[in-house]
Amino acid sequence: MAVINFGSINIDHVYMVDHFVQPGETIASSDYQQLLGGKGANQSIALAQAGADVKHVGSIHESDASFKQTLIKKGVDCRYVRCNDTPSGHAIIQVTPCGENAIVLFGGANQTITADVVNKSLLDTSDNDWVLTQNETSCIDEVLQQAREKGLKVAFNPAPMSESVKSLPLDCVDLLIVNETEAAALTGKEALDDIIQVFQSDWQHAEVLITLGKEGVMMVTPESTDKVPAFEVDAVDTTAAGDTFIGYFLSAYSAGTEVTQALKRGCAASAIAVTRQGAAQSIPTQEEVDRFLAKHG
Ligand code: RIB
Repeated sequence: MAVINFGSINIDHVYMVDHFVQPGETIASSDYQQLLGGKGANQSIALAQAGADVKHVGSIHESDASFKQTLIKKGVDCRYVRCNDTPSGHAIIQVTPCGENAIVLFGGANQTITADVVNKSLLDTSDNDWVLTQNETSCIDEVLQQAREKGLKVAFNPAPMSESVKSLPLDCVDLLIVNETEAAALTGKEALDDIIQVFQSDWQHAEVLITLGKEGVMMVTPESTDKVPAFEVDAVDTTAAGDTFIGYFLSAYSAGTEVTQALKRGCAASAIAVTRQGAAQSIPTQEEVDRFLAKHG
């Protein structure tokens, strides 16, 4: 069983700031780093670190091929990562002392995935494989549709949320993973109870996983809800916390781990990630997650 992840690979430009820059304001940063990121790459690394067989499908500029090597070193199968002449996707990330972030994205090479690329990347799949995608690459409609036509399981994390998500073939999705903002945008509701109600009535074809930040996570099916609290830690940088959760959760869940245990593993991995700076580099190893769970239960 493999996970084929159609996802972004970004170069993250990370600035440590006192507060997020305001309209018309210029502020100095106290630190700057250029790091591997992108929701897609982060989720692939988390899947690989968690022990999954993950094939990443994506694109990056040829001059940034070292970032592909980093993915390979982390255990990600990059046979479908193309290096081309389109500038790499990147993110301008401000991080405040309490670990919050604000992000501006440039899509670049992430937007060069075509229907043909999707088709070729899905030629050698097996029945039990999963397809995963986020909202930072092109041709998501093709990914969802082609994966469904092949009878593969489809996980979709519509982040960052945009209006266009609503017109995607969402009936192809088996597992939807959203945070509260994305859930509110998709359902048109604000209160969590109302959001759950809409998912239970309108998303009968899928399981819906809602990440609730410091409150933990909740799995919603048409018949049930299952909530797992977050672990309490001192956060220094929340970038990629959700990506880490998704990779660790999906690795366990797709391998047959019972849902509550898989949720707990995802929460533990993301709790560790927020205590470290950066995106991809903050994602823990399996051994670190095991040790954390042994200590915090
Ligand atoms: O989820 C965090 C990621 O969002 C960052 O690594 C950045 O690249 C953006 O894609």
